[in-house]
Amino acid sequence: CSDKYYIYHGLLLPSIAHSNESLKYMEKFQVQDNDIFAITYPKSGTTWMQEILPLILNGGDLTPVQTIPNWDRVPWLEETRAALVMDKIPAPRTMVSHMPYHLMPASFFSSKAKAIYVTRNPKDVVVSSFHFHQMASFLDDPGTFDEFVDKFLAGNVMFGKWTDHVKSWRNTDMGDRIMYITYEEMVQDLQGAVQRMSQFLGRELSAEALERVANHCCFKNMKTNPMSNYSLVPQDIMDSKKSSFLRKGTTGDWENHFSPELEAKFTSTIREDMKGTNIKLYWD
Ligand code: PPS
Repeated sequence: CSDKYYIYHGLLLPSIAHSNESLKYMEKFQVQDNDIFAITYPKSGTTWMQEILPLILNGGDLTPVQTIPNWDRVPWLEETRAALVMDKIPAPRTMVSHMPYHLMPASFFSSKAKAIYVTRNPKDVVVSSFHFHQMASFLDDPGTFDEFVDKFLAGNVMFGKWTDHVKSWRNTDMGDRIMYITYEEMVQDLQGAVQRMSQFLGRELSAEALERVANHCCFKNMKTNPMSNYSLVPQDIMDSKKSSFLRKGTTGDWENHFSPELEAKFTSTIREDMKGTNIKLYWD
């Protein structure tokens, strides 16, 4: 493991944004009953949720998403910036996290905070992550796609195995405090997805606001929003000439990357990891 990663409970976390202090801050964090979390395995729709949540909570007002960078308006609980911006976030606070369920702060479990868990087809997750590793200088060089897939399946990538993450969040005792949605559902019917989320959060939007939110959050429009497209990050940290952060925003790009042999290995490894659970896989 390179010095690009900080190891926390066996998970590799990028050192650029995680430290002893940031993880201590997370552990001691006092979750409020009205806090709202969007939980994702990396490359599954985090940035999208950082756009959608403030829009829902502000009744479709575009001001926050047009004036505040995504990492300050909906910070990562585990990252170094959280301690700097948390006090500035209006209640109800919205946060994102890539943490597995059991590593959430103790106060989360005794609170009434809500969480939205977004899952994405792991084949598209690994493709998105591969391109991200090519453009982000703070991550290890991914090697070839086939090599990167091996690392992904073994969990030698940031935040560990996709299967462990999904299993942890599918087996919570959060009852109706957690809502599950997929990246694919959001691509297929964004307006319907936003409506479901707003109902879950008790913040139903008017038809006009719903349409405005969905329109603002479509891939094409988010890609041109400097507060959300990572163009504020210096080129030597994220090299947009190698790949864009908002790269394709589609489902099924894995078909352009996987050989039939690699796909068979990927599918059977994930299936094996999920054995004994009742979690439906994307290809079942
Ligand atoms: S990260 O690094 O974990 O925060 O990345 P994350 O935001 O979770 O995932 C990045 C991928 O999400 C895509 N994305 C979108 N797709 C469709 N519509 C919208 N509005 C949208 N916003 C972000 C982004 O393009 C990355 O996927 P790929 O497949 O690489 O394009």
